[in-house]
Amino acid sequence: MTAFEGKSVLITGGGSGIGAATARLMAEAGAAVALTGIPEAGLAAVAAEIGGKGGRALAIPTDVTIEGDIEAAIAKAAAAFGRVDCVVANAGIQRHRTDVNLPEMDMAEWELTQDVNLRGVVRTCKHALAQMLRQGGGGSIVIVSSITALSGRSANVSYMTAKSGLLGLNRHIAVHYAKHGIRCNAVCPGALEQTPDWDDHPNPVRRREMMERAIPLGRLGTPEDIAPMIAFLASDAAGYATGGQFVVDGGITVAA
Ligand SMILES: NC(=O)c1ccc[n+]([C@@H]2O[C@H](COP(=O)([O-])OP(=O)(O)OC[C@H]3O[C@@H](n4cnc5c(N)ncnc54)[C@H](O)[C@@H]3O)[C@@H](O)[C@H]2O)c1
Repeated sequence: MTAFEGKSVLITGGGSGIGAATARLMAEAGAAVALTGIPEAGLAAVAAEIGGKGGRALAIPTDVTIEGDIEAAIAKAAAAFGRVDCVVANAGIQRHRTDVNLPEMDMAEWELTQDVNLRGVVRTCKHALAQMLRQGGGGSIVIVSSITALSGRSANVSYMTAKSGLLGLNRHIAVHYAKHGIRCNAVCPGALEQTPDWDDHPNPVRRREMMERAIPLGRLGTPEDIAPMIAFLASDAAGYATGGQFVVDGGITVAA
């Protein structure tokens, strides 16, 4: 697969999970990859791994809650690779224990999740669009939402509200930037083996049992299950896809 030969991609949250799997896949397909996120160690390890296999990757420590960070990261990627063709807005957190029970919610907790999962993606898309327009148009953005945006089931209310907001942002960008040749799509992953902030999950064993029963394909997903959909949507092969919401969840959403 040479779908990304000569193309460059910037991925937020690129040091682990879905972001790292997507970076590996797109680098194998020829992309120059800018890995952004926190902490730096994960980014550097994935960049070194890609570099060791003959790929091109750059680790750029970036906190998506700081607008200047994401602006600078996109500028660095553009300077290193000549342009930024694709942006994957993937960074996210999940506050399993504290993002629950709305009547008693500490609003600082609510804000924390919104700041990374919604406003972080807005900042990323803002500067991605600005860069793509400076380049003369063209480009592809993929937003990583979640199946929690498609139902009311998740107990993590700030998380699922932020992920729902991303679907609106996706539609806005698709409609208003199509005339510039810029596409935007959302991927809604289902329940993977591990979630963001996995060490903080209150009951991983029960979650696994419940999910394995509920998922028609009978297993939790992996980052490698999600990366191909992100890469496809970012690629020219998806040239007629924009504004879509692409569910990759082993069937759990339609089984409910
Ligand atoms: N794992 C799942 O079950 C699942 C399901 C649906 C959606 N998602 C979404 O997929 C995306 C990737 O999650 P994952 O499963 O790979 O987990 P992950 O924790 O491995 O990935 C999230 C990444 O975001 C980074 N990050 C956190 N805060 C950041 C900040 N302020 N600035 C920059 N980077 C930051 C983390 O360091 C991490 O590398 C997330 O948006 C998540 O909500 C995951």
